[in-house]
Amino acid sequence: MVKATFLGHACVMVSTDAHSVVIDPFLTGNPKAAAKPEDLKVDAVIVTHGHGDHLGDAIEIANRNNCPIIGVYELVTYCQRKGAKQGHPLHIGGSYNFPFGRVKLVPAWHGSAFVEEDGSIVYTGNPAGVLLFMDGKTVYHAGDTGLFGDMKLIGDRHSIDLAFLPIGGNFTMDIDDAVEATKLLRPKIVVPMHYGTFPVIEADPAEFAQKVQAAVPEVTVKILQPGESVSL
Ligand code: NI
Ligand code: MN
Repeated sequence: MVKATFLGHACVMVSTDAHSVVIDPFLTGNPKAAAKPEDLKVDAVIVTHGHGDHLGDAIEIANRNNCPIIGVYELVTYCQRKGAKQGHPLHIGGSYNFPFGRVKLVPAWHGSAFVEEDGSIVYTGNPAGVLLFMDGKTVYHAGDTGLFGDMKLIGDRHSIDLAFLPIGGNFTMDIDDAVEATKLLRPKIVVPMHYGTFPVIEADPAEFAQKVQAAVPEVTVKILQPGESVSL
């Protein structure tokens, strides 16, 4: 059984009986966080891109668990320079079999520069979406992205059991574009994320659910409050 727990904003923990991985663990400073970094027991930390609301506590969590940070090469290198002891760089289109399952990075249309405390900007490579294959299930985490046509290719190539899609607009897809994304990806279950954390990304997940139901009734929408899970 695969269990995905929404930990607030874009942070998702995916677990099987034997393994757990966390994606985009922004917990410290996240008003919606449903966990503390020190509480997470994981086999890997996957980061979609180098913005603070995704990179978050990744380095601390990885080091505490003695596990790798997984992401694009530039981002993993950056994390290692910042103190991460283990990293496994991938790149867009690449995948690798880890002990917990397979991770594949796919495109995301976004930015990925980290703004240091002194205001300098470090480029951390291309942003990515994540396909996670564990225990025979496929989970897609879109990262931060706008709508793009190749989501159809991702949906054609992979039978997605569960998709996490941003709906908050401003930095990412809004509700209507996320409905289009759902049509292209055709997951069995879709969970909205990346909304409501800050005023600029307010969005009503019930409106998303209604519109998905009207457009693609075969897809189930699960609205998860931070801390809630869906089992596959
Ligand atoms: Ni971002
Ligand atoms: Mn973001």
